[in-house]
Amino acid sequence: MIKLNENFNKLKKNYLFAEIARRTEEYKAKNPGADVIKLGIGDVTLPLCKSVLDAMHEAVNEMGNAATFKGYGPYEGYEFLRKAISESYLRYGIDINPDEIYVSDGAKSDTANILEIFEADGNVLIPNPTYPVYVDSSILSGRNISYIDANETNNFLPLPDYSVKPGIIYLCSPNNPTGAVYDKNQLKKWVDYALENRAIILFDAAYEAFIEDPELPHSIFEIEGSKDCAIEICSFSKGAGFTGVRCGYVTIPNNLMIDGKSVGGMWLRRQSIKFNGTSYITQRGAAAALSEEGMEQARHNIDYYKGNAKMLSNTLKEMNIWHIGGENSPYIWLKCPNAMNSWEFFDILLNNANIVGTPGSGFGTNGEGFFRLSSFGSREDVEKAIQRIKSLQF
Ligand code: MLT
Repeated sequence: MIKLNENFNKLKKNYLFAEIARRTEEYKAKNPGADVIKLGIGDVTLPLCKSVLDAMHEAVNEMGNAATFKGYGPYEGYEFLRKAISESYLRYGIDINPDEIYVSDGAKSDTANILEIFEADGNVLIPNPTYPVYVDSSILSGRNISYIDANETNNFLPLPDYSVKPGIIYLCSPNNPTGAVYDKNQLKKWVDYALENRAIILFDAAYEAFIEDPELPHSIFEIEGSKDCAIEICSFSKGAGFTGVRCGYVTIPNNLMIDGKSVGGMWLRRQSIKFNGTSYITQRGAAAALSEEGMEQARHNIDYYKGNAKMLSNTLKEMNIWHIGGENSPYIWLKCPNAMNSWEFFDILLNNANIVGTPGSGFGTNGEGFFRLSSFGSREDVEKAIQRIKSLQF
């Protein structure tokens, strides 16, 4: 007799951002005139930059011509994009071959799907708070989860606890949701810990383009020893504005082996069963985003969002509201005023200022009492939001 996957019963009723969207729509239905500003989900608002658009238009034309038309592409992504990604690693002095790169439709699916190549009943270590996809996909696959505390005491950058013996370790830096960024010494501690435990670090670098401090690492592969214990997952969503286009990639060093088997080879086998590749048009756009011109244009957009973050951060400073992030990250992580809990603050902001943010408790128990603001809104919306926040009496 057929049964359902009982692990679904262990999940919260709704995915965090689906729940926020639901509550926002409910509010808008009850208050049709309200000018609601969304600083919740980290969704970009600026259009694609010119070099990406030109490349994609050209690719569309190729698809309309019998001589240049493309059907199914390679499972691992087109060589031209994997080469462009490999070259982009050189900016940080990292040597990655194109055949160590696996193109996908985004970091969200990769961070969840990659679990499939590892033992199903393994132990996963996840910081608390965290991007909910790591937790939900670990729960769905029936894994045991240990949490490591990120909190004010460790500046939301927890370090390894050797009494815990995980097989898989999720790390995200710059961090979603807190905006905190690990330095090289801290990441080295994680690499040493993973090597000692023969564990794998799944390193989510989706926000690396927001790092401006030259001392901070953009990639786990800047750390010695990481090629023996880490997989990096990255995305064009936040840096190049691809949230609606969909393109990401996984980097698995060729020398990463478990029980004599190539981890990259297993991932490719998995992808070839379940994934028919990212569209040619998208991959052409992604390669253009990595060109010199594309990077410079993307930099303007990133600076714009960082300008928003700075304005939000200055406002919170003026109001004496504790917060971190926003400097090397698009997210600002603040402590809810007056010891409010996260969903109380969500309601106050929505009802009294028509601003949507993300309750910290949605990212884990250690997020309770905290709140995340995204800087991906339009400048006009951020300016309006600031005026409204200032007028609230905390
Ligand atoms: C976020 O807001 O945390 C992200 O945009 C959500 C996502 O990338 O899935």
